[in-house]
Amino acid sequence: MAEPTKLAKDDEPKDDATPNVSKVETVKVASEEEAVEVLDAPAQRGEPVLQVRNLVKHFPLTQGILFKKQIGAVKAVDGISFDLYQGETLGIVGESGCGKSTVAKLLMNLEQATAGEIFYKGQDITKLSGRALKAVRRNIQMVFQDPYTSLNPRMTVGDIIGEPFDIHPEVAPKGDRRRRVQELLDVVGLNPEYINRYPHQFSGGQRQRIGIARGLALNPEIIICDEPVSALDVSVQAQVINLMERLQDEFNLSYIFIAHDLSIVRHISDRVGVMYLGKMAEIGTDQQIYDHPTHPYTQALLSAVPVPDPDARDHRERIILTGDVPSPANPPSGCRFRTRCWKAEDKCAKEVPLLAVPERFKGVDTPAAHESACHFAEEKDVVGAA
Ligand SMILES: Nc1ncnc2c1ncn2[C@@H]1O[C@H](COP(=O)(O)OP(=O)(O)OP(=O)(O)O)[C@@H](O)[C@H]1O
Ligand code: SF4
Ligand SMILES: [Mg+2]
Repeated sequence: MAEPTKLAKDDEPKDDATPNVSKVETVKVASEEEAVEVLDAPAQRGEPVLQVRNLVKHFPLTQGILFKKQIGAVKAVDGISFDLYQGETLGIVGESGCGKSTVAKLLMNLEQATAGEIFYKGQDITKLSGRALKAVRRNIQMVFQDPYTSLNPRMTVGDIIGEPFDIHPEVAPKGDRRRRVQELLDVVGLNPEYINRYPHQFSGGQRQRIGIARGLALNPEIIICDEPVSALDVSVQAQVINLMERLQDEFNLSYIFIAHDLSIVRHISDRVGVMYLGKMAEIGTDQQIYDHPTHPYTQALLSAVPVPDPDARDHRERIILTGDVPSPANPPSGCRFRTRCWKAEDKCAKEVPLLAVPERFKGVDTPAAHESACHFAEEKDVVGAA
């Protein structure tokens, strides 16, 4: 049998439509203050599609071979709350090991929560099972990080994209599957004729398009993207991000976008949550987080982002964090960031700072008035990601 042709990188579609992002709607507001809030958070309107409340995931640490005894727990996610609104992208950033992927797996029900709730349109999905869970899961799909390992090399692209229809045949009955898969290939910018090809015949960017097509197969409302472009070349990253933005507009999708790269997260996100050691340190609109961060951890992360403007580069202050990230099996008391924070005081070791709008900013018309889990939250002049 002839070896199937490998597609050249040049086959990558390069003409993704420029995202037509204009999510600000005319919203009737009662006061000027509210108007500022609405403009700051254009996607925050209506009911959230997802509400996460005090979500916890502890992985037990055991000892012994025959009689396993629990000796502790890795507190991967330790009481996280946030909302996701229809049509918005919530970016989640944080250092390696802070619990981002565990949050994604909990939202997908791939891991069972130790405690807490995940409401999808008002229904707590952590308590669902059987048919009710299956129905909800159809609406929440995932795109994985590594397009090289997340696609089964022995399956054709048609089988990979059409596999979700085995679980939900009501979405595409058997006789209609081929047509539907070809439609999905077309939607993600791939030639529908490629339906019988195998993953190894595609480049990295094209494989991620296949992953996205599979994620779209069941017409979900929410897509959880765990580092979806981290394994791709920079030029291909932009194409995949543009595709995701176009699809979001077309299908009114809500994204949770997990990534290390702060510049990419800013580009795609309406709001951003910053995680540290299993907790949310700060959350707000992209402008609030990048231009007016109030949590020392966010400020340190942003101070390390490369800045293209030489003037800005000369004037910025680089905050170098000392010490290692503590073990999530034994996190520091009080504020988890205190062992690396240059502002830490006694109070930080005694009291856990709550994620809330700091008292001093409450009712004040300033972008600093957003949720930050720091006893001494204040703005710092950090030149962030462009
Ligand atoms: N199944 C598991 N059993 C035990 N510990 C786990 C398990 N899965 C994750 N962890 C631990 O939980 C913590 C959070 O892991 P997670 O993969 O969620 O981090 P992350 O923020 O996604 O990191 P990265 O940026 O490297 O992908 C880590 O300390 C990790 O070792
Ligand atoms: S609560 Fe204290 S230790 Fe934690 S970030 Fe704020 S100042 Fe730093
Ligand atoms: Mg991860």
